[in-house]
Amino acid sequence: MSAHVPASTSLEAVPQLDLTAQYAAIGAEIRAAIERVMASQQFVLGREGAALEQEIAELCGVSHGVGVASGTDALILALRACGVKAGDEVLLPPFTFVATGSAVSALGAKPVFADIRPDTYNLDPAECARRVTPRTRAIVVVHLYGLPAEMDPILAFAKEHKLPVIEDNAQAIGARYKGRPTGSMGDVGCVSFYPTKNLGAYGDAGMVVSNSAGLAERLRTLRNHGQTGKYLSSEPGWNSRLDEMQAAILRVKLRHLSNWQRARQSNAAEYTRLLNPFPGVMTPHTPEGLEHVFHQYTIRVEKRDALQKFLAERHIGSAVYYPHPLHLQPIYAELGHKRGDFPHAERAAQEVLSLPMYPELRKEQIARVAECLQEFISK
Ligand SMILES: Cc1ncc(COP(=O)(O)O)c(C=O)c1O
Repeated sequence: MSAHVPASTSLEAVPQLDLTAQYAAIGAEIRAAIERVMASQQFVLGREGAALEQEIAELCGVSHGVGVASGTDALILALRACGVKAGDEVLLPPFTFVATGSAVSALGAKPVFADIRPDTYNLDPAECARRVTPRTRAIVVVHLYGLPAEMDPILAFAKEHKLPVIEDNAQAIGARYKGRPTGSMGDVGCVSFYPTKNLGAYGDAGMVVSNSAGLAERLRTLRNHGQTGKYLSSEPGWNSRLDEMQAAILRVKLRHLSNWQRARQSNAAEYTRLLNPFPGVMTPHTPEGLEHVFHQYTIRVEKRDALQKFLAERHIGSAVYYPHPLHLQPIYAELGHKRGDFPHAERAAQEVLSLPMYPELRKEQIARVAECLQEFISK
């Protein structure tokens, strides 16, 4: 087995994520963009935001983008624009970041969980059919770790039940499902520009993308106090606007996104090449026809916690996304779920480990991670 792992050149630390490497490469461009906003003295709902909305809509293959303050706000506003109200049920996977569920709860609606597929960690379309009720009003699909969910059967199911589909595209901007960009297949797509995301701002920011002019118009109203005219509000909204500074920074970073995406994919291929022969290590599975953008490179091992400790002792960063499935978290205690309700989500929460992954990660660093993994396995 050792033949597969080239010796790394040093025993250097490998962080799970290193944003400083990216800033070192693009800092001058970023500072020029910030200076442009400073010179304009226009900070909210200006030219940069409008341009970014067009550029992100184009990337996602849709007609409209509506900039908002975060990915969480994108989900809340999207659900609301799709008609979800207090008391409604919304289908979603339990294996995701809490924001996917808390966006539903923020509207007074009830999250109804449907288990994931064990090979992709994404929503299992067959599980949706088991959990749908006459009170179901929407489905939220998450493209976890940067891998598109199984959209065709989910869209067919949604059509049959006349349910809007909201794509939580926080982790998968740039990914494709059978050639179609994530975010373009449902009624709306929700993007997060949280700093650690594949396209990250220098603070919080998000966007909703859609092909529906009607939904986009409603979202523009909702993000700005429900105003349909100057100081004239037609419904309760709030302040969730994307600021110009973040938009200008994101426009710079967007120009690099496809190169960064290729670098992530090449890093993932290198990991898989090195780790695939290791017994007991499951590397990410990308079904035929799908393009994974590797927001995370997530393996699965039975002794996950021991492995994470072993790596940390050797200064190798790693992270668990996510250790607690939503149905077992205190926030949803009142739903009365118990261990065993969603076995695939529960097992994933115990076994997944995300290894260092960012575009600037070097081959020697990947080799170092693989070397440590091999050492752990042969212990
Ligand atoms: C799957 C998922 N959904 C929603 C969010 C919320 O996005 P934000 O942090 O921008 O509010 C995130 C990221 O944090 C996420 O990973």
